[in-house]
Amino acid sequence: MVGWSEYPTHTVNSVMLKRRSFNQWLLSLPALGLLTSSQTLASQSRVLMKTIPASGQQIPAVGMGTWITFDHHPERVDLTQYVEILEAFFAGGGQMIDSSPMYGFAQQLLGATLPKVSQADSLFAATKVWVPGQQRGREQMQQSINLWGTESMDLMHVHNMLDWQAHWPTLNEWKNQGRIKYTGITTSHGRRHTDLLRFLQEQAVDFVQFTYNIHDREAEQRLLPLAQERGVAVVINRPFQGGGLFARVTNKPLPPWAAEIQCHNWSQFFLKFIISHPAVTCAIPATSQLSHMQENMLALQGDMPDSAMREAMIEYYQSVV
Ligand SMILES: NC(=O)c1ccc[n+]([C@@H]2O[C@H](COP(=O)([O-])OP(=O)(O)OC[C@H]3O[C@@H](n4cnc5c(N)ncnc54)[C@H](OP(=O)(O)O)[C@@H]3O)[C@@H](O)[C@H]2O)c1
Repeated sequence: MVGWSEYPTHTVNSVMLKRRSFNQWLLSLPALGLLTSSQTLASQSRVLMKTIPASGQQIPAVGMGTWITFDHHPERVDLTQYVEILEAFFAGGGQMIDSSPMYGFAQQLLGATLPKVSQADSLFAATKVWVPGQQRGREQMQQSINLWGTESMDLMHVHNMLDWQAHWPTLNEWKNQGRIKYTGITTSHGRRHTDLLRFLQEQAVDFVQFTYNIHDREAEQRLLPLAQERGVAVVINRPFQGGGLFARVTNKPLPPWAAEIQCHNWSQFFLKFIISHPAVTCAIPATSQLSHMQENMLALQGDMPDSAMREAMIEYYQSVV
């Protein structure tokens, strides 16, 4: 088991968990009523932060995805549900939200809901370009920025490496102009790993995104070590295998020792397995349910498994599925 102080490169900050009702209760106590907000902050839980090698900036190790879960036209749904999910995300210490023009109305829904979320100023906005051709890529990237309603993007990936040769000069140009902060490239489902490895060896890139979870561990062989060696931040998609992991462990108990690393459900077990990998910067689980978001964000808290416990997690998982 690894305590916070044993994470030299993953600085752990006291990040306020801005649970409004909890804070209101705290401040209602006479003895605490004189606390400043920063003092209240110190009394809150800490979340696991990871360092982006390209800049030294730190971000929380759990973000959120938007594929399917946020693919709803904002005028055809009650926005309240999505505002509540986002409130819980930021209250739980989250920052990175990942989307793409591929995800239907997801960027529109984010643009409609984020202004209604009280803590959205800590947003780390990540999207992708997913169209062939340089000019169409430029237009699509600008359209994404417009849909989110942000002035710029923190991270612009090339989605599934699609026509990356056409987009790469644009990404670097926009980075120099400050229209995006970081460049990135993605794949998923274990596809195109050989191409991605070559890309990481030959190109300067800030972020790479691919699939890794306790069931799909191919990335441990070459991708994760190479990203770490090259100083590239790693975003992990499909951390629950698109939800498939939960189906595999239905009615299976957690191991008794999961409590030692504060895993109280399978979601936290799966997420802590991923974010405790030294090369991983941020996992981006997607959910359409408030209770699931609350569960997922708690994976940022408490002790993380060390390498021996990660091995035990794999062994236990394989023994029950
Ligand atoms: N090529 C690419 O660039 C690429 C490819 C794939 C994915 N991505 C990104 O990665 C994100 C994550 O991947 P994903 O959405 O495919 O799959 P995922 O995050 O592995 O799984 C999402 C599923 O897990 C369920 N879930 C979430 N939290 C849960 C919990 N606490 N308990 C039980 N079920 C839970 C969700 O259902 P509920 O809604 O019921 O919670 C949803 O069906 C995507 O949304 C997208 O942003 C990128």
